[in-house]
Amino acid sequence: MKISVVGTGYVGLVTGVALSHIGHKVTCVDIDQNKVEKMNKGISPIYEPGLEELMVKNINEGRLFFSANHREGFKDSKVIYIAVGTPEKADGSANLTFIEQVAKDIAVNIEENVIVVTKSTVPVGTNHYIKDIIEQHLIKNVKVEIVSNPEFLREGSSVYDTFNGDRIVVGADNTEAAQVIKEINEPFGIPVYVTDVQSAEMIKYASNAFLATKISFINEIGNICEKLGADIESVAYGMGLDKRIGSMFLNAGIGYGGSCFPKDTKALTQIASNIDHQFELLESVIKVNNNQQSLLIEKAKDRVGNLRGKKVALLGLSFKPNTDDMREAASIVISKRLLEEEAEVIAFDPIAVSNAKRIIGEGIQYTESLEEALQDSDFALIVTEWNQIKEINLQTYVDKMSTPLIFDGRNCYDLNEVEKYNLEYHSMGRRSVVAKPAVAVQ
Ligand code: UDX
Repeated sequence: MKISVVGTGYVGLVTGVALSHIGHKVTCVDIDQNKVEKMNKGISPIYEPGLEELMVKNINEGRLFFSANHREGFKDSKVIYIAVGTPEKADGSANLTFIEQVAKDIAVNIEENVIVVTKSTVPVGTNHYIKDIIEQHLIKNVKVEIVSNPEFLREGSSVYDTFNGDRIVVGADNTEAAQVIKEINEPFGIPVYVTDVQSAEMIKYASNAFLATKISFINEIGNICEKLGADIESVAYGMGLDKRIGSMFLNAGIGYGGSCFPKDTKALTQIASNIDHQFELLESVIKVNNNQQSLLIEKAKDRVGNLRGKKVALLGLSFKPNTDDMREAASIVISKRLLEEEAEVIAFDPIAVSNAKRIIGEGIQYTESLEEALQDSDFALIVTEWNQIKEINLQTYVDKMSTPLIFDGRNCYDLNEVEKYNLEYHSMGRRSVVAKPAVAVQ
């Protein structure tokens, strides 16, 4: 089938590439001419494992195209996917400007009946709003059906997730339109759940809010464990053995970041407040997460005292490993606090440094070498659990740092292992390890 995908961010590009890979003829449309030229040459504008290889293969096999021209991009397409961003507005609600623009672009450029499928995360009711906009601006006498098809992929494993997801949600008013989308997705071999449009829109927000709740919950339990001498890893493991709870998303740390959880949790509280419902549980989840991001600094201050002039190794900048994405990363809050405290910061990240420079700025120093970040530092803060950090020989901390003192926001190391080294180690929801004789803070 001939399909168009509008928007080539994480969601749109991965969707377009994956749909072409299962045999459809796909044109990805983006208004950024530069980006389109690069993509036509097989260059991916984002870092995502496996994506570029798949792009090149499907371009070469004549199934995948890129265009900056809507008319050309929509030509002969029976289905148009919308995958543009819905960034956060100042009040936390979703900004639908890009969606509205795409709806108008579709209306004035299509020449035959189409099914418009929304992949972007949009508030309940938006798909019907999109249909209204398209119908208001239509030039030709054609029929438009809408389908909500929310995306659940994770950054860093989005290609894998697209081919191995747990479910595909299809929300439609029209059973024929639902059937078409079901058939398009059949080669993925993933169960398809068909429901109404509003419920599909809500499934996306509710899923992300639930996962965020799991994280804030385990973080709170961790904060309590730490004070009571219990161990969060054992507690989470023991909880996860109950199939009703499940073991996933119970890793305590300095909270969630990224392009989805922070934005979608805020948007859902906003959606609720629009109908005079105060979503207190979710408000608490957000509050816990905000506090959690600064916890490492509080721990460091409690231990070290004044941070002024202290040389700090900030390990990991991206919001999670295997991505260069800095959106809502805990490192942003942490580096800001360190600068306020007048600490001297040298930050390490294997791939997010150039993005970090744009967001955090030049107030801190950057390096792509872990050893260089640790050199002569007074303490280290672990913010992202990159493999390079997890797999480091712990003796490196002892050898390189001026004071081998670590505050680990992601519980990268086994406590029994840490005990073998002359280190002082504070992590999340677990006992501290203090080498004997204790590490002296200068
Ligand atoms: C998330 C959802 O998983 C995905 O389904 C949705 O489509 C988009 O949002 P993503 O933002 O890519 O995906 O990252 P994810 O791997 O889910 O992690 C989100 C954040 O939660 C990260 O900052 C991560 O460090 C944190 N996290 C995750 C925890 O702190 N503990 C956990 O147990 C799991």
